Amino acid sequence: MTEALHNQTLEILRDNQKPAEARLQGVCDLLQSEIPHYDWVGFYFRNGQKPELKLGPYAGDPTDHTIIPFGKGICGQVALSNSNFVVPDVSAQDNYIACSIHVKAEIVVPIFVRGENIGQIDIDSHTPDPFGPEDEKFLESICAEVARIL
Ligand code: SME
Repeated sequence: MTEALHNQTLEILRDNQKPAEARLQGVCDLLQSEIPHYDWVGFYFRNGQKPELKLGPYAGDPTDHTIIPFGKGICGQVALSNSNFVVPDVSAQDNYIACSIHVKAEIVVPIFVRGENIGQIDIDSHTPDPFGPEDEKFLESICAEVARIL
C-alpha cells in the first residue's frame, strides 16, 4: 500500500461534488484495480433496523450474497463482533459464505459511526494468505473516512 494510493483514496472520499454512493464506488474500483491481491472489494451496510447486511457498492464479480444475516459468514460475524476479521485460508473456516471458487482469503473491517457498527469493507483475494497488518491499518483508515461522509 503506497502513500500515494492512500491519498488518492482519501481524495475520492472527500469529493463533495459527488454523492456518497459514487465516492464509495470510486474507492472499490480504485482498490480493486490497483492492489494486485484485492480481487473483490465491496461495502456491506446494516439494512435499516434489520439484523442483516445489505450489499452496497462493489468492484469485481457480481455476488448472489446481496443480503447477509448477522452472524452468518465472515461478514455477518463482523457485524456482531465489531472487530476486524482476517482469514488467511477460507477453506479452514466453518462459518463462511463462498462467493467464488477462486477466493482463497478474505479481510473484513467494520465501519463505526458514533461508536456504532454500521457496516464494513470486505476484500476477497485469489492469493492465499495475502493480508497483513498494513492492510488492516490501511482499511481502518479508509473506514474512518467513510464514516465521516455517511
Ligand atoms: N465471504 C463472505 C460473503 C461475502 S462475499 O465474499 C462477497 C462471508 O463469508 O461473509
